Amino acid sequence: MKLFEPIQLGKLKLKNRIVMAPMCMYSVVKRDGELTPFHNVHYASRAIGGVGLIFFEATAVSEEGRITDQDLGLWNNDQMLKIKSLANTIHNLGSQVGIQLSHAGRKAEDARNLAAPSAIAYNDSYQTPLELSSKGIEKVIADFKASAQRAADAGMDVIQIHAAHGYLINQFLSPLTNLREDQYGSQSLENRFRLLKEIILEVQKVFKGSIWVRFSATDYDEESTTIKEFDQMNQWLKNLSVDVVDVSTGGLLPKRPTRIYPGYQAQYAEHFKINSSLKISTVGKLGDPNLANYILETEQADLIALGRPLLRNPNWPMMAARELGYTEFESYNPSYGRGFNE
Ligand SMILES: Cc1cc2nc3c(=O)[nH]c(=O)nc-3n(C[C@H](O)[C@H](O)[C@H](O)COP(=O)(O)O)c2cc1C
Repeated sequence: MKLFEPIQLGKLKLKNRIVMAPMCMYSVVKRDGELTPFHNVHYASRAIGGVGLIFFEATAVSEEGRITDQDLGLWNNDQMLKIKSLANTIHNLGSQVGIQLSHAGRKAEDARNLAAPSAIAYNDSYQTPLELSSKGIEKVIADFKASAQRAADAGMDVIQIHAAHGYLINQFLSPLTNLREDQYGSQSLENRFRLLKEIILEVQKVFKGSIWVRFSATDYDEESTTIKEFDQMNQWLKNLSVDVVDVSTGGLLPKRPTRIYPGYQAQYAEHFKINSSLKISTVGKLGDPNLANYILETEQADLIALGRPLLRNPNWPMMAARELGYTEFESYNPSYGRGFNE
């Protein structure tokens, strides 16, 4: 049963194909970017539930890069030490752990000064961002590197670079939000990709674990980045030794897909899988175990990332094993077995 088969990703081995998608919990009440008791229980519960790889939510590389002031951060060592302790717990519970490193750019909701490739607001209720100077871009890259060093110190297995959902890197990738005339723009794909490339190269200097990228494969606007451009970027990511691309959609513009149905984003994952040699993770309304397993069996993707299904049920893997009749599933905690057998 593919959903429960281990998978090797570079040096990383996952015990199954079930990934907890990064999900902001907006619960850092003290606004210091540090993990709270809530986060410790929240993430550890999914490890007890049997998830192969657990991603911590979008974690800001700088104070001004947070989506909201209640987000996690990794710009200081106090934050790192708390993450290290939770990573250790998750490892002891039998799962691997990753962190999504992020900069919100023009979608930083609480920041005083927003930074973006170009001075274009997300919509009327957001501030107009300042165009990043070349020094500003250098700082963003340095912040990603410093956070990656801390992720390494904290024992993270994976860094996922957040290049989706309309946050800073996604803003650089799209010709609609990047009107720069320097080497980070000029309407050439190579230039728009440069920020992501330079971040990956710097991150790799300090982080020896697995590096993933999350893309929004469509911005739901024909004038934005095309699927062919993603094919090219996937080739560049492969050349940069990125292990996995996690394929989401949307978030750059205030536009939504016209229909959202189970597996609605899997078509993009399948396209990426056919047209690249990267490992591909798919996400989006995949809570039906039969659908999740079917997507893997038919090779539309290599991994299934779950967001809301794991909010609803931290023991989703056990529930799925039961529903699919997979009897060899071992949770971390055999004490739960009786909850899943008559
Ligand atoms: C509460 C919540 C918070 C989210 N936060 C993030 C985030 O921090 N980073 C990210 O890339 N996606 C985020 N997402 C999107 C999820 O990772 C996922 O792509 C989306 O929910 C679709 O998957 P699902 O249908 O399994 O929930 C969030 C989604 C939810 C529901």
